[in-house]
Amino acid sequence: MSGHVPVMLREVLQSLAPADGGIYLDGTFGGGGYAEAILQAAECTVWAIDRDPDAIARGASLAARFPGRLHLLQGQFGDMLGLLADAGVTALDGVVLDLGVSSFQIDDPARGFSFRADGPLDMRMGKHGISAADLVNTLGERELADLLFAFGEERASRRIARAIVAARSEAPIATTGRLASVIRGVLRPDRSGIDPATRSFQALRIRVNDELGEIERALAQAARLLRPGGRLVVVAFHSLEDRIVKRFMGHAAGRAPLPSRHDPRSLDARPGPSFRLVTPGALRPSDAEAAANPRARSARLRALACVSAPGEQSIAP
Ligand SMILES: C[S@@+](CC[C@H](N)C(=O)[O-])C[C@H]1O[C@@H](n2cnc3c(N)ncnc32)[C@H](O)[C@@H]1O
Repeated sequence: MSGHVPVMLREVLQSLAPADGGIYLDGTFGGGGYAEAILQAAECTVWAIDRDPDAIARGASLAARFPGRLHLLQGQFGDMLGLLADAGVTALDGVVLDLGVSSFQIDDPARGFSFRADGPLDMRMGKHGISAADLVNTLGERELADLLFAFGEERASRRIARAIVAARSEAPIATTGRLASVIRGVLRPDRSGIDPATRSFQALRIRVNDELGEIERALAQAARLLRPGGRLVVVAFHSLEDRIVKRFMGHAAGRAPLPSRHDPRSLDARPGPSFRLVTPGALRPSDAEAAANPRARSARLRALACVSAPGEQSIAP
């Protein structure tokens, strides 16, 4: 398939609730599926960020269809505050993040994300910096094992790391196919039918792109950018991402424990911005969507609404 089918699009629009005159950020432009739907849903403006230069280049035709309403910025969503400030934008009515990689990226063997097709072991969404091959061929066995365990929740991390180190002593591991076959030499497919290379590939991708650090930076900045009534909507695809989003939103909405009275932070009596959860838990894709789009199966959507700005009384969102 060429192109990217937007995941949980109906639920994203309901949670974001775009309104005429609003200014929204799509922090993960990808194939532009969310951005296009937001532009169609209301007479609003969308700023869109993607770290992948190919996504930004593809977006030019969508921007031409919505003159003056879609603005594309290449960069990382973890830098959204600075990217938007440079463009003169300091407040938003909504932010949406659709985490992970797009079908354009995963389906292109040359980008090196997929263990299904052979290609260079790359995985860099932004096409710069350290590649997956750099990590696989230079990290020590212990560091490799820790990486696979921390970012892939791979229980066989030590055995896989040992096999990688043995394989690379014969010749550097330069392709997705060779890495996948080294991992498959260690682990058999389990009863779920999931490819044994899945978790290790996820781990490398997360580390190459510092995906968890990006999410943490983005959530904090999005909360600072939201106007009262504004929404932050995040679609996550695995538990490491979703855990960060759940904790952040729970804390922002006052569900997580507050600092004790003896904590120096509680001396600052000024109220910060206040937030509420749009839905109490995560939304999941419908059975029909999960059946039609395998990529949607693991999706979890969480949304936060800004109720009032710092120092203001709460307003109804
Ligand atoms: C799942 S796709 C988004 C698909 C999009 N919602 C659509 O409907 O077409 C994720 C996109 O986010 C981009 N991305 C991932 N992490 C990023 C980051 N930290 N900063 C900017 N873009 C990022 C990827 O390059 C990819 O194009």
